[in-house]
Amino acid sequence: IRHKTSVGVCMSESEEKGSIRFIIEDSEDPLADALAYDSQLSESDVTVIDGLSMGEAGDGSSTFFFPGFIDTHIHASQYPNAGIFGNSTLLDWLETYTFPLESSLKDLEIANVVYSKVVDRTLANGTTTASYYTTIDPESTKLMGEICSARNQRALIGKVCMDTNSPDFYIESTEECLKSCENVINYLQKDLRDPKVQPVLTPRFAPTCSEDLMKKLGALSQKYGGLHIQTHLSENDNEIRWVEELFPECDTYADVYNKFNLLTEKTVLAHCVHISPKEAKLIKTRNCGISHCPVSNSSITSGECRVRWLLDQGINVGLGTDISGGFSCSILAIARQAHLVSRHLAMRETGTEEREHVKLSMEDVLYLATMGGAKALDMGDNLGTFDIGKQFDTQLIDIESQGSNVDIFQWQKISEVMNEKNKFQPPKISHNDLLAKWFFNGDDRNILKVWVGGKLSHSDW
Ligand code: GUN
Ligand code: FE
Repeated sequence: IRHKTSVGVCMSESEEKGSIRFIIEDSEDPLADALAYDSQLSESDVTVIDGLSMGEAGDGSSTFFFPGFIDTHIHASQYPNAGIFGNSTLLDWLETYTFPLESSLKDLEIANVVYSKVVDRTLANGTTTASYYTTIDPESTKLMGEICSARNQRALIGKVCMDTNSPDFYIESTEECLKSCENVINYLQKDLRDPKVQPVLTPRFAPTCSEDLMKKLGALSQKYGGLHIQTHLSENDNEIRWVEELFPECDTYADVYNKFNLLTEKTVLAHCVHISPKEAKLIKTRNCGISHCPVSNSSITSGECRVRWLLDQGINVGLGTDISGGFSCSILAIARQAHLVSRHLAMRETGTEEREHVKLSMEDVLYLATMGGAKALDMGDNLGTFDIGKQFDTQLIDIESQGSNVDIFQWQKISEVMNEKNKFQPPKISHNDLLAKWFFNGDDRNILKVWVGGKLSHSDW
């Protein structure tokens, strides 16, 4: 977090119209600095879009750029159910709430409404990249690709694969499923041809996928040069027991996916709440990412993922909303919950040092929300920070935007009076304190603009 005085420079001619090529920090003359960066540019190519500063609290200059959020696990098709889960747990929740809703999205009119809404809503909440699950239906999945492309959100689009242990109104045969997958892959790669929108192979989870299907999906990934893969792993006790019964020859749940070549550096595994040290080691060896979904894990009482334990082993962890196991599509809200869940885990530690170690800081979870997610999706070279050469996937935050939920006070004055009475050094509010104000009480009302690949995707200003 480095934006004391950040300046976005907009390229009007040589790049795609409206795109942003540079962020120049601490610059007195951003135009001159932009020209110095790139000798091909002339003055007419460059528009300085904003002089931004995060000044003193309460002085009205409370805007800053922040890297776009990355949602590493979201079921776009379940958005109508966000908040509707009662007291269910995973397996009865799937049957009662989830499969019936997902099956309804084969109706393209319903799919269009739901998918448009979820993309608009996540963009307004600062999500610049999302790894989506749609449904088993290929046609509405292709529509989701079109919607993400048209609204300019970076997306992985996953047609859900399930050919066994599923209701008869919501299942495909193995052959149908593989055909649908190739149909979607070819459409996204050859017809839509938007590099921001890519396919992701999505075996729903081991119980709803036959061995034959998983084996063929592993091979399909290879055939297309290493496709992204996403699935669920070790979310809930009953689920784990079911997998043990279904795959008695496999050593662990993670081993099932490993056996069918589904664990690669392009694989992101949602939840991993109850994985064993052996499974963590396998995940690290295969360099898979993990999507931590703390709102979902709390809501449907799946458990508490030991994120610090994963990070200590060098595993890449990002955050997921897991709509609609989770009820919020805001990654900022998910990051706050990750912060709190780590405190619940800490309260169970007996030693002071261990307690402190298990707690995730604001900085830790904001990392998970951005760069952690980028790495978990194997996109760390291009996304997640403002490093030179990366995509400009960015949110413009105003801590004190109109109607915002964040109240900033005149700390300078408060400190002076406090000092008179208490003889303390005036506590000067730092930039980190201001960020904490945004982190704990902010929401979409603090997001003025969102860019993906330098192009404006959302504006509330
Ligand atoms: N496991 C299998 N399917 C799902 C799903 O849709 N959501 C969650 N949270 N877990 C799953
Ligand atoms: Fe999920």
